Amino acid sequence: MSPNSPSNTGSSPYSTLPPASPPATRKPVSLPRLLEMHARGEKITMLTAYDATFAAVADTAGVETILVGDSLGMVCQGLHSTVGVTLETMRYHVESVVRGVRRVQGTAWIIGDLPFGSYQASKEQALRSATVLLQAGAHMVKLEGGGWTAETARFLVERGIPVCGHLGLTPQTVHALGGYRVQGREDKDAATLKRHALELQDAGATLLVLEMVPATLSAEITRALSHCATIGIGAGVDTSGQVLVLHDMLGMNLGKMPKFVHNFMADAGSVLGAMQTYVQAVKQRRFPDNAVNAW
Ligand code: KIV
Repeated sequence: MSPNSPSNTGSSPYSTLPPASPPATRKPVSLPRLLEMHARGEKITMLTAYDATFAAVADTAGVETILVGDSLGMVCQGLHSTVGVTLETMRYHVESVVRGVRRVQGTAWIIGDLPFGSYQASKEQALRSATVLLQAGAHMVKLEGGGWTAETARFLVERGIPVCGHLGLTPQTVHALGGYRVQGREDKDAATLKRHALELQDAGATLLVLEMVPATLSAEITRALSHCATIGIGAGVDTSGQVLVLHDMLGMNLGKMPKFVHNFMADAGSVLGAMQTYVQAVKQRRFPDNAVNAW
């Protein structure tokens, strides 16, 4: 029997996933559905996950999109930045997440992060790397940065690969940015950011993470995009949806907690409860609170 086959030896003391798949009751999340939510103003929820169990719990909590983020370099591998994460590592974690979601007959839309050095060299390199993550089971890939990335995004989208952009604070270029700091505060930078967002939309990107940008700017960009939904992190409440890094929202950050993060575990009795509270808070626009979390 392959290690991936269901076991016939009874229930394992280690498994936190259900032994048999319950019947599907929800429809799989699709790109048209995410864009329809953006158009209707229904908030999209996203969390990062890196393994089967957390992915299964996130899906069960009703999180619509799971990002297998290269933040795993920090939270799983103990690196100081995402720069050292490899494509092979991303493939491993995407496969684990996909398995977890499938085990609960989940419906989440799964995004695989293209790591640093796996898409910058050429559009062809990006296609090869995206293929690895899609073959691992991801539905979409994410790439960081504006300007040159639009042509790469177009190349992938034309070949049937859904693309999520990532603007604002782009952790893979933290050295060039001079640290993890808010982006787009100056008028000139804000205009560039907005132009890059429109270029990515024009290239066919259908989701766009906006990280650590002023709330007014992310609201303006969100309004300007008709067929690309924005997902904010430290970008205020007026984006199409929100994302948080799993370990942060569970209060597992032993360093300085970014001010835009909320510890959803503090009042929850379980990880499932914390994720359900997050989903409700995002849907009801109670998280983030612009008065507390925005720049
Ligand atoms: O890698 C990641 O987890 C991310 C999110 C912070 C958006 O890119």
